[in-house]
Amino acid sequence: MDSSVAAELERIAVLVAEEAGRLIEDERPADLGVAQTKSSATDVVTVMDQRAQDLLRERLMGRRPDDAFFGEEDGGEAGTSGLTWVVDPIDGTVNYLYGIPAYAVSVAAVLGDPSTPGGWEPVAGAVCNPRSGETWHAYRGGGAWRTRDGSRHPVRASGADELATALVGTGFGYRARRRTWQVAALTHVLPRVRDIRRMGSAALDLCAVAEGRLDGYYERGLNPWDMAAGVLVVEEAGGVVTGLDGPPSESMVIASGPRLAAPLAGLVGAAARQAGDEAP
Ligand code: IPD
Ligand code: CA
Repeated sequence: MDSSVAAELERIAVLVAEEAGRLIEDERPADLGVAQTKSSATDVVTVMDQRAQDLLRERLMGRRPDDAFFGEEDGGEAGTSGLTWVVDPIDGTVNYLYGIPAYAVSVAAVLGDPSTPGGWEPVAGAVCNPRSGETWHAYRGGGAWRTRDGSRHPVRASGADELATALVGTGFGYRARRRTWQVAALTHVLPRVRDIRRMGSAALDLCAVAEGRLDGYYERGLNPWDMAAGVLVVEEAGGVVTGLDGPPSESMVIASGPRLAAPLAGLVGAAARQAGDEAP
């Protein structure tokens, strides 16, 4: 893809991610996690998820009518250009519910079919944390950047090369069977690294790797919308993102700086074998 086209896609991703970020921030009821009953609070989150995704679809399809649109909530659109916008309107929904300032809007332009594992590739993307005011963004070949208050800085993944002193992020899915597998894998990882962080937003975890706030990250069970923009930001920050035996996919995403990539892949592979091949 021509770099000026990719740069324009990155610019659009930043613009719309920040607009949706303002929406979820400005319209989040202050007492969401506290005053509401459990089910109605969850409903409010679902409504905000859908509203943010509708806004993203409207803005993106308005600017790029030939592209496809694929998001976590209802309402995908087919396209003819070969390019699909893959969006997570609120990544870190549980943090959003409780007012923990670690949630994000993730927007990526990808080539290929995002519903085929390994069959797609992000070419531009942005991850906006509306609470911190930070947006990480990249296009393929253009480097990785963090913008805050209008000024942008390049970001680089960490130079860590030892597992024992590596700070590693991970996450857990929503289903009990998957969590049981994830905990079994974690018991192999935790004694061998500096510490573990579970921050609650895969998109922000990946940006933390891009920035060196985490040395590494792994998770089983991510969807394309959780990872599409973050994967590109890590790679453009000089980091490495893989799966267990191939490209990152739902079965595993492993991200780190370049020197930790092989040791971390070895550790996560051993952890996965320990947890069992019949991974839910
Ligand atoms: C979740 C978050 C979480 C990760 C889960 C995701 P959601 O996305 O990214 O950190 O561990 O696997 O499903 O539900 O908050 O959009
Ligand atoms: Ca998500």
